[in-house]
Amino acid sequence: MTQIGFLGLGIMGSRMAANLLKAGNPILVHNRTRSKAEALEASGAGWADTPGELASRADILFTMLATPEAVEATALGSQGFLPAMHKNALWVDCSTVNPSFTRRMADEARQAGVRMVDAPVAGSKIPAEKAQLTFLVGGDSTDVQSLQPFFAEMGRQAIHAGGHGAGTSLKMVFNLLLGQSIAAFAEALLLGESLGLNRDMLFDALSGSIVASQAAIGKRAKIESGAYEADFPLQWVQKDLQLASVSAYEQRIALPLTNAAKELYMEAVQRGMGELDLSAIYAYLTQKSGSKGA
Ligand SMILES: NC(=O)c1ccc[n+]([C@@H]2O[C@H](COP(=O)([O-])OP(=O)(O)OC[C@H]3O[C@@H](n4cnc5c(N)ncnc54)[C@H](OP(=O)(O)O)[C@@H]3O)[C@@H](O)[C@H]2O)c1
Repeated sequence: MTQIGFLGLGIMGSRMAANLLKAGNPILVHNRTRSKAEALEASGAGWADTPGELASRADILFTMLATPEAVEATALGSQGFLPAMHKNALWVDCSTVNPSFTRRMADEARQAGVRMVDAPVAGSKIPAEKAQLTFLVGGDSTDVQSLQPFFAEMGRQAIHAGGHGAGTSLKMVFNLLLGQSIAAFAEALLLGESLGLNRDMLFDALSGSIVASQAAIGKRAKIESGAYEADFPLQWVQKDLQLASVSAYEQRIALPLTNAAKELYMEAVQRGMGELDLSAIYAYLTQKSGSKGA
């Protein structure tokens, strides 16, 4: 049987690895913070002490890490996984990173004799738990094809967007919209409330309209309760808008709205809200404006 390695057991990775395990795959895991592997180990996953050890024992290695810096450090740093992988093994990077970074990692992988696919995901904590993610995939068709059974165990669809970097390119497009739609929705709520409109009525009215995104409406319970435990940490949407900006710079195009939203999220990160859910941008805006809405 194909031996799976899974590196990165945060909000998303822990749930994705659990679904691979549940589907009956032999799976080894590693995470910088070991305690996050305990539940998986109790359910039968093996533990590897370093990314390198994990890679040396896996046929397919999935990574689900926070940032390009985290991917690069674990791939190429001391005891990194890339030099340790078997020749012709497959590295599937599910982390949200920028396309030029993906293409650089694909080159590094090629030089190490390893095949690579970028497969970031659309869908958050609950879709990850329920195996309802959408994989946005870049890479060679044969490699992508061979991964379909694993994508199906963790998600409900896989969109093969093109060659290396096409998956992360598509992810930039998704999260540019996500980050802006949540920020715009928060501003809209703030304005409505400041004009004396009731928040419940606003949610009801917007839920039945075409102007609010489903992602924003889905944040109703968090905004109403003011409990912003992260499904998607705010600091990572700020990172994604930053990566979209880097990509735009590389393509010599302007993204004025993306940059405004990126800076707004950074202000919230600076106020200590980075580990809260991205919908806490509403709480940040209300605090900033001195409104009682939050
Ligand atoms: N949450 C979502 O809704 C969602 C949805 C789609 C895509 N994503 C993307 O998926 C990725 C993971 O997100 P998440 O929500 O699971 O985040 P998370 O809970 O913060 O997990 C981040 C993971 O990266 C690891 N990590 C961070 N810096 C590292 C470093 N320097 N060296 C080694 N490991 C490092 C963490 O290890 P520790 O446990 O030791 O900190 C953890 O395993 C991100 O790229 C995010 O943008 C998230």
